[in-house]
Amino acid sequence: MLDGRVAVITGAGRGIGRMEALRLAGYGAKVVVNDLGVAMDGSPTGETPAEEVAREISTAGGRAAADAHDISTYEGGEALVQAALDNWGRIDIVVNNAGIGRPHMVFNLEDAEWGDVLRVHLTGTFAVSRAACRWWRTEHKEGRGGYGRLVNTSTGLLLYGGAGQSNYVAAKAGVLAFTDALATEMAPYGVTCNTIMPSAQTRMAAVGWRIDRARAEEEAFDPTDPVHVAEMVSYLASPAAGWISGQCFQVRGGMVEHVRAWEVDDTLERHGSGWTADELAAEMPRFFGAGPKPSDPPPSEWQEQYRARKQGGHSR
Ligand SMILES: NC(=O)c1ccc[n+]([C@@H]2O[C@H](COP(=O)([O-])OP(=O)(O)OC[C@H]3O[C@@H](n4cnc5c(N)ncnc54)[C@H](O)[C@@H]3O)[C@@H](O)[C@H]2O)c1
Repeated sequence: MLDGRVAVITGAGRGIGRMEALRLAGYGAKVVVNDLGVAMDGSPTGETPAEEVAREISTAGGRAAADAHDISTYEGGEALVQAALDNWGRIDIVVNNAGIGRPHMVFNLEDAEWGDVLRVHLTGTFAVSRAACRWWRTEHKEGRGGYGRLVNTSTGLLLYGGAGQSNYVAAKAGVLAFTDALATEMAPYGVTCNTIMPSAQTRMAAVGWRIDRARAEEEAFDPTDPVHVAEMVSYLASPAAGWISGQCFQVRGGMVEHVRAWEVDDTLERHGSGWTADELAAEMPRFFGAGPKPSDPPPSEWQEQYRARKQGGHSR
């Protein structure tokens, strides 16, 4: 599926990124395995996981180069894309996956916890994307281009609230919005830009959705294995997915879910005049209903009510 393609994957020394690197290489791509080797909170460890994964790919007969740039810096993003060009003379696929977590309630969130998380997830995604998009645009203008695949990583927490992770969800919402904008900007150059919301058991995430462990073992199917995310990313990186851009997919085991972001849901409208605050105080709860965001899991009585209300449409 990816023979002759060159891919860069950030944070590919561990977890989801590692599996993405293995699968992309398995499908024939030459892979730059980037990882800074930091701890979950972004602090240094002295570990070199990128080298281990690059070795694993080479041992299995694939082509890989290790890279340890810090993608949260503009220089790091440039240097990573340059590493692909230096090794293989081109770049076709970028998977921005690197991430850290520094969760705290907002009233305890320190400046550095906010800044570091925004820097790694959002600035890092920008730094690598910009460098690749510049190359893709130049190639296209010189008549050699027409193929680019950008896959960025957000989080399903955006769907479920994200309490205690305000820095993280803010960054990941930024990644989603950024990717949507790039999909429009890069369409004339044959570049697709999509977002995934992964879910997999890694050091960073104890998967929240319910899994029947006994059944998983019995059926030899582990829905929390990062391989399911990696297969979807391999597909989005392939020529077969050239028709998909500006989309977001959540992947959970055997489920691939299309996520519609930034969608107007219901409209409360009056013709010929606006609303006053006291009128809104009366109308808003009646029309939109009050309640928490839908959560998953657990399916709650509230969710049932929410669904019933939605099925009722505008008749409220
Ligand atoms: N695991 C899940 O269920 C889940 C859910 C939603 C989103 N995500 C997202 O998926 C991505 C991968 O998460 P994971 O669970 O595999 O985490 P992980 O901690 O296993 O892997 C992340 C890797 O990124 C690397 N990294 C961090 N900062 C870096 C930097 N500045 N430069 C280069 N490398 C850096 C780390 O060294 C680490 O190896 C993250 O963006 C995460 O937010 C994961």
